[in-house]
Amino acid sequence: MVIGKPLLTVEQIQKRVRELADKITKDYNGKELIAVCILNGAFMFFADLVRHIRVPLKVDFVSCSSYVKTDTTGEVKVHQDLREDIKDKHVLLVEDIADTGVTLNFLREHLMQRGPASIKICALLDKKERRIAEIPLDYAGFSIPNKYVVGYGLDYSNRFRNLPYIAIFKKST
Ligand code: IMP
Ligand code: MG
Repeated sequence: MVIGKPLLTVEQIQKRVRELADKITKDYNGKELIAVCILNGAFMFFADLVRHIRVPLKVDFVSCSSYVKTDTTGEVKVHQDLREDIKDKHVLLVEDIADTGVTLNFLREHLMQRGPASIKICALLDKKERRIAEIPLDYAGFSIPNKYVVGYGLDYSNRFRNLPYIAIFKKST
């Protein structure tokens, strides 16, 4: 297994996370927010993002995994649901990467049924080329090429999440 040199360095990530947090702070001025971390991949991004958001907020966590069955369908299993009641609340879904979009699309629909005041989506990475389900990405950190990446929360078989930067992952041959 080979981890290449950083695709996104610590400095690039930290700078962009602050910019996203500043934008979110402006957009939610005067409102309270429920920031929802999509486990496991978003844990590091989420922790960095919320510490720079300057509006009152609650945090909550949802754990799910997606299985893409064909090119056009996917199934998402929720392992752990929210604990907060989101009715009439402003919800910000925070994800590590928008890949096929199946996970975010499903979660958005799933949570919309609870009558929140609004739901917005913030993803650190956007792998546009792979998109199957159209999702509104309200806040996106970086557009990346169609390569498998690890680090800063993102994994291969639950490994490499602890890297402070993001790198392209290659299986050695
Ligand atoms: P989706 O295909 O948009 O539903 O993404 C599902 C999940 O796949 C994401 O939340 C990530 O956890 C994972 N994923 C997608 N692309 C990558 C990648 O390049 N590296 C690590 N995980 C990924
Ligand atoms: Mg994930």
